[in-house]
Amino acid sequence: MKAGFLEKLIGRLGRIGPEDVQNYLLRLAQEKGFLETIFNAIQEGIIVTDSNGRITYLNVAACEIFGLDGENAIGKPLDEQVRGLDWQALSHSDAALSRDMEIFYPANRFINFYVVPLLIERRAPNEEPNELAEAVGHAMILRDITESRRSTQQTIESERLSALTLLAAGVAHEIGNPLNSLHIHLQLMERKVKKLRATEDKRELQESIDIARAEINRLDSIVTQFLRAIRPSKPQLHPEDVNTIVQEAVRFFRPEIKDRDIVVETELRSDLPPLELDRDQMKQAFYNAIKNSFEAMKRHGILRIRTDRDDTHVKISFTDTGGGISAENLSRVFDPYFTTKSGGSGLGLLIVRRIVREHGGELAIESSEGKGLTLTIRLPFLDRRVRMLPDRERMKDEG
Ligand SMILES: Nc1ncnc2c1ncn2[C@@H]1O[C@H](COP(=O)(O)OP(=O)(O)OP(=O)(O)O)[C@@H](O)[C@H]1O
Ligand SMILES: [Mg+2]
Repeated sequence: MKAGFLEKLIGRLGRIGPEDVQNYLLRLAQEKGFLETIFNAIQEGIIVTDSNGRITYLNVAACEIFGLDGENAIGKPLDEQVRGLDWQALSHSDAALSRDMEIFYPANRFINFYVVPLLIERRAPNEEPNELAEAVGHAMILRDITESRRSTQQTIESERLSALTLLAAGVAHEIGNPLNSLHIHLQLMERKVKKLRATEDKRELQESIDIARAEINRLDSIVTQFLRAIRPSKPQLHPEDVNTIVQEAVRFFRPEIKDRDIVVETELRSDLPPLELDRDQMKQAFYNAIKNSFEAMKRHGILRIRTDRDDTHVKISFTDTGGGISAENLSRVFDPYFTTKSGGSGLGLLIVRRIVREHGGELAIESSEGKGLTLTIRLPFLDRRVRMLPDRERMKDEG
């Protein structure tokens, strides 16, 4: 298509005969179709509005980003079509403007809005250019920046978490030393008590020593477990059966299941492929999830644990009847130290997520307040090495 076709046409307007009109119209329609095809092929969303903020054009990508029906949206105010869009703030400036925004419909995404005012100089072809241009609307270019934001967010989070775990590990370690010393002194006391005459006092002293020792052992095992849980260690991967790990994690809770009168229903799919996992870490993740469910249900209730698979992932889901969590709190469950429990550390889910991510997996939490919560872990089993093999074979043949 030749550039300047429109200019030529305008220049010749006076001399166009009726027989030419059809040809020219056809040509114009083709030109419009050509541009439309290009605009619909690009990934960026494009929206053009008039000076009242009504949509005059939008491409396919823009419709997808905002979940709009293209035909229907034309002529409608943009801020009515896109819920929650502050069109005033975006359009007030005379200069181009770039702003990142989070949208929640049809999907939760981060979008960069680049908004340029459209100015048109109204002058006749022979007139001198003048400064007065008329604002006829805005053109808006939309770019989906969710992925890049997500990876930045993940970097920040993982840095924050390593600083946090380092600190916590330091504290836990420091608790270990006085515990040791307490243990030794208790032993000394016990030896002396043993030598005393058998009296009521001796019996009471021995009883106190036993209680103190039991408490020290309890503290010691908490510190050890805590250190193991947060130590930022690379997972030691071995082929493992997820169902077995689930069963082992549940076994930890046997006394509590009885105590709290909770029913644990497991629906474990038998044909799961073995996964490359760090058994201890994954058990820790399952343990934290189950512990949360138990704490939410307090007494009575059902925890359903299901394992399933699709073509690429194994899925493990934990569904409880513990009353769930509000939407507001749901957005904070991965914040370090966020807890609604008096004795909670607020690190449990953070650790689950760290473990799952280090295995290349994903974590999802769904909850309806008042009913319960489902935590789903997806772990990939098609790893790259398997797909690389044919290439290596070929290289051998060629070499
Ligand atoms: N199954 C669940 N049902 C309802 N709320 C939950 C559930 N799991 C987690 N939560 C909410 O998420 C918060 C954070 O959970 P997380 O496991 O990270 O910390 P915590 O359980 O409070 O403390 P910790 O696990 O360190 O003992 C909890 O305080 C609770 O409010
Ligand atoms: Mg927890």
